[in-house]
Amino acid sequence: MDTTCIRFALRAILLHLLLLSLPKLSIAEFIYSPHEIFSIHCGSSTNFSTRDGRNWTPDIKFLTAQSHHSFAAPALTPSTIQGPYTIARLSHSQFAYSFPVTAGPKFLRLFFYSTSYQNFDRTNAYFSVRFGPYTYTLLQDFNASLNADVYNDPAQPDILFREYCINIREGERLDITFIPTITVQHQDSYAFINGIEIVSMPPFLYYTNPDDVDITWLPQPVGLNTNPFPIENNYAMETKYRLRVGDQEIPASQDTGMLRSWDVDNKYVTTQSVLSLDIDSGIKLRFTKTPNYTAPDTVYRSLRNMGSNGTVNMGFNLTWQLPVDSGFTYLLRLHFCQLDPNISHPGDQSFFIYVQDQLVEKWADILGWSDKQKGVPVVKQYVVFIPGNQQETLNLSLKMHPNPQSLAKDAQINAIELFKINDPTGNLAGPNPDPLPQSPKRVPLETSNKKSHGTTMRTLAAIAGSVSGFLLLSFIAILIKRRKNVAVNESSNKKEGTSRDNGSLSVPTGLCRHFSIKEMRTATNNFDELFVVGVGGFGNVYKGHIDNGSTTVAIKRLKQGSRQGIREFKNEIEMLSQLRHPNIVSLIGYCYESNEMILVYEFMDCGNLRDHLYDTDNPTLSWKHRLQTCIGVAQGLDYLHTGVKQVIIHRDVKSANILLDEKWEAKVSDFGLARIGGPMGISMMTTSVNTEVKGSIGYLDPEYYKRNILTEKSDVYSFGVMLLEVLSGRHPLLHWEEKQRMSLVKWAEHCYEKGILSEIVDSELKGQIKPQCLHKFSEVALSCLLEDGTQRPSMKDIVGMLELVLQLQDSAVNYEDSSSHSTVPLSDCSENTGLSTTSDGDRSYGRMESFVLIPDDVFSETKNPKRR
Ligand SMILES: *[C@@H]1O[C@H](CO)[C@@H](O)[C@H](O)[C@H]1NC(C)=O
Ligand SMILES: *[C@@H]1O[C@H](CO)[C@@H](O)[C@H](O)[C@H]1NC(C)=O
Ligand SMILES: *[C@@H]1O[C@H](CO)[C@@H](O)[C@H](O)[C@H]1NC(C)=O
Ligand SMILES: *[C@@H]1O[C@H](CO)[C@@H](O)[C@H](O)[C@H]1NC(C)=O
Ligand SMILES: *[C@@H]1O[C@H](CO)[C@@H](O)[C@H](O)[C@H]1NC(C)=O
Ligand SMILES: *[C@@H]1O[C@H](CO)[C@@H](O)[C@H](O)[C@H]1NC(C)=O
Ligand SMILES: *[C@@H]1O[C@H](CO)[C@@H](O)[C@H](O)[C@H]1NC(C)=O
Ligand SMILES: *[C@@H]1O[C@H](CO)[C@@H](O)[C@H](O)[C@H]1NC(C)=O
Ligand SMILES: *[C@@H]1O[C@H](CO)[C@@H](O)[C@H](O)[C@H]1NC(C)=O
Ligand SMILES: *[C@@H]1O[C@H](CO)[C@@H](O)[C@H](O)[C@H]1NC(C)=O
Repeated sequence: MDTTCIRFALRAILLHLLLLSLPKLSIAEFIYSPHEIFSIHCGSSTNFSTRDGRNWTPDIKFLTAQSHHSFAAPALTPSTIQGPYTIARLSHSQFAYSFPVTAGPKFLRLFFYSTSYQNFDRTNAYFSVRFGPYTYTLLQDFNASLNADVYNDPAQPDILFREYCINIREGERLDITFIPTITVQHQDSYAFINGIEIVSMPPFLYYTNPDDVDITWLPQPVGLNTNPFPIENNYAMETKYRLRVGDQEIPASQDTGMLRSWDVDNKYVTTQSVLSLDIDSGIKLRFTKTPNYTAPDTVYRSLRNMGSNGTVNMGFNLTWQLPVDSGFTYLLRLHFCQLDPNISHPGDQSFFIYVQDQLVEKWADILGWSDKQKGVPVVKQYVVFIPGNQQETLNLSLKMHPNPQSLAKDAQINAIELFKINDPTGNLAGPNPDPLPQSPKRVPLETSNKKSHGTTMRTLAAIAGSVSGFLLLSFIAILIKRRKNVAVNESSNKKEGTSRDNGSLSVPTGLCRHFSIKEMRTATNNFDELFVVGVGGFGNVYKGHIDNGSTTVAIKRLKQGSRQGIREFKNEIEMLSQLRHPNIVSLIGYCYESNEMILVYEFMDCGNLRDHLYDTDNPTLSWKHRLQTCIGVAQGLDYLHTGVKQVIIHRDVKSANILLDEKWEAKVSDFGLARIGGPMGISMMTTSVNTEVKGSIGYLDPEYYKRNILTEKSDVYSFGVMLLEVLSGRHPLLHWEEKQRMSLVKWAEHCYEKGILSEIVDSELKGQIKPQCLHKFSEVALSCLLEDGTQRPSMKDIVGMLELVLQLQDSAVNYEDSSSHSTVPLSDCSENTGLSTTSDGDRSYGRMESFVLIPDDVFSETKNPKRR
């Protein structure tokens, strides 16, 4: 790594000198220095540098052992473009590279020069490219010559370039495999590559920071009024467009250090517009809303707007049309910066933004976004699904229009980035374009809007199974930060300083034990990987044995720099050590020394609820068992809300935070975010305390994240989401689902209204749920999800209602068929396969008679409840 840094520094100096001699170009300032750069010239055995600041090195040491049959061959026609194009690595059979990289997000760039190489005819290049270890498909049955002909860029003839954002996990290598598509008709197919580049990027440039993100800047799903849409670490993305609006392209050498190139947007603007260039190069930009490496300074000094004639401007939308492959979800990033001397107050200029003709901003006000400061770049992000079969090219549209109430009747933008997100099968590849009619050269970009005959779909099914599971793994809690007033007394969380010594947290001794780091090491065999039972954004959870092996415990070792900082650590200890309830996980103790923050809990044999619902190899839980679990959780939450002196708001209720003990009793866990409300919770609404909106994406109460109203009803909302999760066996947000189904909450509401509730039921539960029971259960869930928190039932009411739902199910089962009602005990979670039923012995519920007498107004109350 050190050598890379030095290499990079040297390169930067060289480049600097080079650029000094070119007065027209500004001097590139490397604001960000990637700790890892591989620029590989495939097939080459010598080093060479290019003017863009890249130092290309040979590929042989990264080629896998199985790949030495591949060839290195020179291009028969040299490229006019400087780059890794003189030679290529080619093969008629599969070959692969494996790069020893550190964990974290990277740019992966592929460079192809589509020409004939010694013994390899240009038109036979036909292949797929996979990126491992999770087999993301980057290119599928890619006909390089066809793509080069159709998407020909006169500035870079026959050069094909692809950029991806990928994330490498701890201990993994970056593997890239090239696979020729050999078929009966195409027996001479080969795969080739000229250049591979890997550049590390800042962790949260494009991926969402699970810790500390202001909700204003998180990607918003287009056309859905739901939670923001985090870009998770396990997504791979392809850069489709990175456009500097209005001015010339910015070459890789003048990026902020990551070697990104910023193209011109001319080709994609479809309406009239006016350019402003070199705006106020005297004023220094202030990167207070985005990190200074987000985009080069110059990006923010050119823009496109509609012109100064407001009368005319009101008559059209400033429009971009970006051709994209259908059937994928896209991340759209819009860059803005206000430097116009005529705009000095928020509201002076505001405009509508439409993405795919859906209104995403009614009041886009750049000054408003940047705290009334001029020259502060901001980035707004949207996530949009383009429906289709992945075989056609459609336009993704971006339109802007002045808000009639705005003083200045104008709209403006500085840059546009668009990324394609992998589909659930791990695919990022689109179809090959349609061949051109006659002369295959010099044709503009938008040519293939008819159905093309790509073969992408063929192999999708094959890899579908293997990849989809991984994609959903570990939906890490996203914490959303927003500086506004929240009606919670935070002082309980702030009374601790941040001094760190050997274990003297001011936790009342006697309430919970203090462990030494030595004890923790003994308990976990020095944090042996073999003892890991859970992995999360916070760190690992180990199964450990304390007291000379007599007691099994769960040991949560917080990772440095995880979302669970010292504050959450103390918070959890203080809260949990005072709580005692069968449905709340017990804290046994903690360890706080040698830079370690460790929490020790009672061990939960059966893991978390989510791992028994979806994305799991575990047998899924029976309906009745799910109901009992929900009741347990509701009781635990009711205890938090009403059973202790002060109202405790958990703030992170979700299936992954519900643990199951060996008797399958549900226990609420993870109190890192819990807050103490006033004696009445809501009665403290008038108190203004600066704090942040936190919780997990997909479960957040809209009233909380939009209006900063935090009461125990926010837990009720999240609990409602969890009820739907339990019913449907899926995550609350699935980005690749068609729009209607993307948000579980929206979809459930839709199904309820249309009377098609059975559509959301987990296929594993088919036939298990009695119709009345399903209906009532859904009513309970939807009542928890009411927009207005005061309309949502209390946890106590919910416990009652769910018990009645369980009675409905029981009586219906008894009534109709008892044969399927075996009594396999639920004892061993790891091996249990008899989970489809459960014994009735552990709870005494009403019998048939009492069911008949259930007053229906218990449920109607949920629709029109009075506040307690
Ligand atoms: C970019 O921001 C970082 C952190 O805020 C700062 O240390 C650095 O000096 C900045 N770089 C430039 C070129 O302004
Ligand atoms: C190429 O450059 C790298 C460092 O940049 C050096 O380690 C290597 O020896 C060079 N290889 C050749 C063949 O010159
Ligand atoms: C790829 O495209 C070329 C035209 O550039 C064509 O001659 C060739 O047949 C195509 N190969 C396949 C497998 O479609
Ligand atoms: C704006 O455009 C309208 C219609 O073309 C024209 O009538 C009007 O004079 C223009 N106003 C200015 C200030 O240019
Ligand atoms: C500011 O407004 C004045 C008067 O409307 C106009 O002449 C000038 O061009 C505007 N300046 C900019 C930078 O738009
Ligand atoms: C701008 O685009 C939106 C979304 O397609 C549309 O509803 C609106 O009518 C358009 N406005 C004008 C003036 O064309
Ligand atoms: C996309 O937009 C461009 C420019 O408006 C247009 O020429 C092309 O036909 C559009 N493509 C599709 C598939 O609508
Ligand atoms: C917050 O809680 C502390 C201690 O729990 C108490 O002393 C203080 O008065 C409370 N503040 C408000 C605004 O209620
Ligand atoms: C903490 O313990 C370590 C060794 O166990 C010792 O070296 C260090 O001085 C202690 N720190 C404090 C603040 O007591
Ligand atoms: C563990 O064993 C040691 C020695 O066998 C003994 O001294 C100690 O008291 C035991 N600790 C517990 C908690 O049982």
